[in-house]
Amino acid sequence: MKTYNCIIVGSGIAALQLANHLSAQSRVLIMTKSTRQASNSYRAQGGIAAAVGHGDKPVFHYEDTIQAGCHFHNEQQVRELVEKGPELIAQLTDRGLDFDRDDKGEMALGMEGAHGRNRIVHCGGDATGKYIMDHLHASLRADIDIIENRFVYELLIDPVTKKCIGIKAKDEEGKNETYQADQIVLAMGGIGGLYAFTSNEASVAGDGIALAYRTGAEIMDMEFIQFHPTLLYVNGRTAGLVSEAVRGAGGRLVDEWGTPIMTGKHPLGDLAPRHIVAKELYQQRVAGREVYLDISMIERFEAQFPTITALCHANGVSFDEQKIPVAPGCHFLMGGIVVDAVGQTSIDGLYAIGETAATGVHGANRLASNSLLEGLHYGRKLANHLNKRLTQNDMASTGYVVVQKPTRQLPLLPNQVELREKMMAYAGIVRTDADLRFLANWLRAYGESETDDMSLDDWSMDAIQSLFMLQAAKLVTNAAQLRLESRGAHQRADYPVEDERWGQVHIVQSKKGIEMRERQHEYHQVEIYA
Ligand code: SIN
Repeated sequence: MKTYNCIIVGSGIAALQLANHLSAQSRVLIMTKSTRQASNSYRAQGGIAAAVGHGDKPVFHYEDTIQAGCHFHNEQQVRELVEKGPELIAQLTDRGLDFDRDDKGEMALGMEGAHGRNRIVHCGGDATGKYIMDHLHASLRADIDIIENRFVYELLIDPVTKKCIGIKAKDEEGKNETYQADQIVLAMGGIGGLYAFTSNEASVAGDGIALAYRTGAEIMDMEFIQFHPTLLYVNGRTAGLVSEAVRGAGGRLVDEWGTPIMTGKHPLGDLAPRHIVAKELYQQRVAGREVYLDISMIERFEAQFPTITALCHANGVSFDEQKIPVAPGCHFLMGGIVVDAVGQTSIDGLYAIGETAATGVHGANRLASNSLLEGLHYGRKLANHLNKRLTQNDMASTGYVVVQKPTRQLPLLPNQVELREKMMAYAGIVRTDADLRFLANWLRAYGESETDDMSLDDWSMDAIQSLFMLQAAKLVTNAAQLRLESRGAHQRADYPVEDERWGQVHIVQSKKGIEMRERQHEYHQVEIYA
C-alpha cells in the first residue's frame, strides 16, 4: 500500500493551494471524486475579494464581511483573512497569474453584493475560477499524485491512538482501495447537491460533512446555507450561475412587467446582501411571478461575461429581449466541520479547509467573492502548519492496524431526486417549524443511524451517496429547526427577526448529540474597527 504524508480529499482552490505550499519533501496525494476540473472553484465566475484598490483597506473589507454575515463571525479569523487578501493576490500575480486590467493597466475591480466599493479581482471576465484553477494545477509539483474518480467513503481511525490514519475509496468500477497518511485533509466543498436548485457542481453533495460526522467529528452552523439569487432558470429548473457581477455592472432584477423588484427593499437595492435579494425573489416566485435580470444597460455584455453568455446560449436563452430568466438556488454552506485556526478538526490527524470547514469567516451569510479568498488563505495556512510537523511524523512507520467493521444488510435509503426536492421545499430559502418538522419526520424514516458501526465496503457508490446525503440533510434540518430566529441566510417565517440571545450560540452536532455552544467573541477586534 502506498503511504503519504498528506492526503488531500478534493480538488478545489483550497486543496490545490495547500498542495502547492506543502514542503517539497512531503509525499502528497490529491484524491478527487470526479475529474480535477469538477469543482465549485473551477466554476467561480465572480472573482476574489481583496482590498487592493486605491483608497481601499482591509478594515473596510472587514466591515462589509461582518455586515453581510450579520455579526456572527469569528472576528479574529475575519481580520486575518482580509489582512492577508492583498498579499495572496500579489503572490498569485508574482507567480504569473494575469488578473484582468483596465485601460490604465490597473487591476480591474468588480462590484458585487454588500461590498462598499469595487473590490473583486477577476480573470477572463467571468471565468475567474477556471483561470485560477488552471494556474494552480500547472504549478503543482510533478511528484504529487492526483487520483481522479475516487469516491472516499470511510476515514480510518487508529483504534489505540484515535488518530485519523487513512481513507477508504471506491474506484470507477466500485473496487475498494485503502490509502494511509500522517494527515488527512478534507477539502470537499459544501452541500449544494442536497438541493434541487443549486449553482454547485453535481458531485458536491455533503460527502465531507457526512464522512467527518460518521467518524465522530463535530459539525456546526449547518442552518446557514446561502441561496444565490440569480441562477439561470429554464423550463422549471435552474441551469447554472448568473454572477452577481452582472448586477455589479448595472443589471437589474425586474418582474414580468419590467418593474425593478429591489427598489425600496434595501439601501443597496439590487446589490443588497444575498439573503435579502434571494428572499425577495423567492417571494416573487411564491406569488406566481417570474423574475428576470435586465441586462439592457450593460455595454458589451457578451465580451464582459463570456461564460454566462455561453451558458444562456447553451440553454436556449437568447439576448434579443435583454432579459435573463432567474431563480434562487443553493450556493454556499457557511457552516461545516468544526476546525481551529489552522483547520484541525476535533479528530487528531484530520483537517478540513475551504467550504467543508466552519472557520467562522462567513458568519451567517458569506460576503460575495470571499470564498476563493478563504480557500487561498486556509490552504496556505494549513500547509505552513503541516510543514512544521513533517519532521516529527514520517509516514515511513506504517504499523497501524485497520479494524474491520461488521457488514450488515443495507438499510432503507431515500431516493436522491426526492431528497433534493424535499430539501428545496422544506429547508430552503424561507423555513417554518411545520415544514422542518415534516422534513425531519420524512428523513427519520430512513435507516441512517443503524449504519454507524457498519462497514460500507460492500455497498454501491450510489447507496453510499444516498447515505451521505441523508446524513447531511439531517444535520441541516436539525439545526434549522433548532435556531428560533432569522439571521442572515437562515430565514424563519415563524421567527422573523434576529434575536441577540441566538447570536451568542452555535449549534454543534456530533455523534455525542447536539450542543448549544457559546460563540467565541473577539470584542477587542470589533472595537478597533468601530
Ligand atoms: C457570483 O459570481 O455571483 C458568485 C460569487 C461568489 O459566490 O462569491
